Amino acid sequence: MTAALPALRLLLAGLATSCCFGSLPPGIPPHDAPARVARFVANQCTWASLATTSSHDPVRGQPFSNTLSVSDGPPGHGAGVPYMYLTPMELSVQDLQVQPQASLSMSLAQTDYCRDQGLDPQSPLCAHIILSGSVLKVTEDQEAELAKKWLFLRHPEMEDWPADHGWFFAKFNITQVWVLDYFGGVKTVAPDDYFKATPYRPHPWVV
Ligand SMILES: *[C@@H]1O[C@H](CO)[C@@H](O)[C@H](O)[C@H]1NC(C)=O
Repeated sequence: MTAALPALRLLLAGLATSCCFGSLPPGIPPHDAPARVARFVANQCTWASLATTSSHDPVRGQPFSNTLSVSDGPPGHGAGVPYMYLTPMELSVQDLQVQPQASLSMSLAQTDYCRDQGLDPQSPLCAHIILSGSVLKVTEDQEAELAKKWLFLRHPEMEDWPADHGWFFAKFNITQVWVLDYFGGVKTVAPDDYFKATPYRPHPWVV
């Protein structure tokens, strides 16, 4: 998380004046800039597939993949850290209590991008990323407020989720980024480079 904090603070400084709902970015960053592609995908996607090690019979110890809502910030202004709103009632959260290591996968197949270009989700050109790391509870108040703001912005329904379910904010702590966005195999990006990358090409019409 240490790597992400300066980036978060910078972003916070600029957020007060930003708007951006509905302004879709003009395009994906070039494939020779995998860190930027990864940030782009992480910001475009509002849900992800989270793979945990199951703590439930009859698949205890086996991989278990589930769909969760995520947000790394407003559209066009992602900070790169996928935040989540979780409850201990969730199967995957119960897994994480035993084994916090997890994998989070996001794909532009979730957006209009691949559909509009006629790209199959498994095509490397339909950019997708896999994050390795672990899921950590957000314990710092300021960061929890930020997570709440960013999650509720992109998932307005969360505000009405049942209050007695013990909801808390969590983040995916990234240790390795895997990028599939072009032919020639997977590219890996270290967390430092991922957090330093600017998500998009500069484009003046997005504030
Ligand atoms: C979080 O990720 C960083 C790499 O970005 C790693 O050095 C650190 O050990 C991770 N923390 C935990 C608690 O897993």
